[in-house]
Amino acid sequence: MDKHEEFRKSVRQIRRLFVLLFTVFGLISGGVLYLMMDPDLSIFKKTSSDPTFVVIPEEDEDRIENGIHVRTGLKDAEGLMVVVYNCTNCHSAKLVTQNRMNKERWAATIDWMQETQNLWDLGSNEEVIINYLVTNYPPREKGRRERLINIAWYDLEQ
Ligand code: HEC
Repeated sequence: MDKHEEFRKSVRQIRRLFVLLFTVFGLISGGVLYLMMDPDLSIFKKTSSDPTFVVIPEEDEDRIENGIHVRTGLKDAEGLMVVVYNCTNCHSAKLVTQNRMNKERWAATIDWMQETQNLWDLGSNEEVIINYLVTNYPPREKGRRERLINIAWYDLEQ
């Protein structure tokens, strides 16, 4: 090998080294630049455009069907959500809906829960709640007593 040949060979080697260095440097600085723009690497995370990522629409848990608040069974009327927020935390709303009382007894029930069951002060909501309760869950009308049937009559002795 003559000197000329040898020289050209080393030039090629150096050039290859430079290409390699440039490539590595380019890749690293590209990565750093990308990280600066997208530090969370969000492009690698699942997004809504990803077909495996399905957004399930949240069901409206306060929906009303046929005049009934589905989740609790309470009637849809003025004050409903105040009652839902204050009266369904400790026990089922069934305890409310299966009771029928007048204003005084609803108020007394609330007082009793406040005194013995840690029910909080309802503030101005108390009136809204009692109005809702007595409007939608008033005492049942007793009506006339049923007709008497199958009665064994007996004679009164003098
Ligand atoms: C801090 C908890 C709590 C909250 C809030 C609460 N209650 Fe109660 N309530 C109770 C407990 C405890 C009982 C007794 C449950 C039992 O006997 O199993 C009860 C019982 C009742 C009863 C049945 C009373 C009886 O004589 O049997 C009714 C009716 C009632 N609650 C209505 C309501 C209404 C209306 C509200 C909203 C203002 C409400 N509750 C909010 C704790 C609570």
